[in-house]
Amino acid sequence: MHSQSTPVPFGPTLRFDIVTLFPEIFSGYLTQSLLAKAIEKGLVEIHVHNLRDWSVDLKHHKVDDRPYGGGPGMLICVEPVMRCVEAVVAMDPRPATVILLTPQGERLGQPRVEQLAPLGRLILLCGRYEGFDHRVIELLNPLELSIGDFVLNGGEVAAMVVVDSTIRMIPGVLGDEQSSWDDSFSRGNRLLEFPQYTRPVEFRGLKVPEVLTSGDHGRIAQWRAEQSEMRTRERRKDLLESKPSAAD
Ligand code: ADE
Repeated sequence: MHSQSTPVPFGPTLRFDIVTLFPEIFSGYLTQSLLAKAIEKGLVEIHVHNLRDWSVDLKHHKVDDRPYGGGPGMLICVEPVMRCVEAVVAMDPRPATVILLTPQGERLGQPRVEQLAPLGRLILLCGRYEGFDHRVIELLNPLELSIGDFVLNGGEVAAMVVVDSTIRMIPGVLGDEQSSWDDSFSRGNRLLEFPQYTRPVEFRGLKVPEVLTSGDHGRIAQWRAEQSEMRTRERRKDLLESKPSAAD
């Protein structure tokens, strides 16, 4: 006989506060199953805040303005950002790490993701337009993160990348079957994943490698290790040559 018990939240929780001008971008993402389950289990909390709610312009809720010195585009003003971040910080007693998503930031990599996950509380600032008034950076001293050397229309997609990659590190978020333990870049692993196959054993003349159906676990492990090595050599030689650093 087994007893019934109510699931109890376990392990560390991670609270995200996302500051954005486009909160609706996050609604589909927040209801996707893995994240919704993590939220339901009490492992992850996500609060999305509309920066316009902290505008000092009560009539039009404007939060941007033209740059001093001229130039194209608009900048997000310092005042609404500071009002918003200060209010958001006060919403929870846990100390928060402020992250600003920007192409000027440190390139996000798995070691940084693993560092962020246990921090407990992350405030993610999503930029739009030409960026923020520089005093936002001087006052908040945020961790500036980029998800790659390309320019997005705003930080929202990058914020989702941060959320998505960090929640995988929280015990209980992934089921046992989906453990992040073997992920390509986890725990200093610098190898790409080996190819995988499922049924049927043959499709349009393409057969699953014989070793995988042999039942010989030793040979399978060896084949997979060789494939990982080969793939990494072909596609990402840089991973074999470089030592992992805190930034990648
Ligand atoms: N905002 C615009 N481009 C970005 C990038 N590449 N990474 C993070 N935030 C961004």
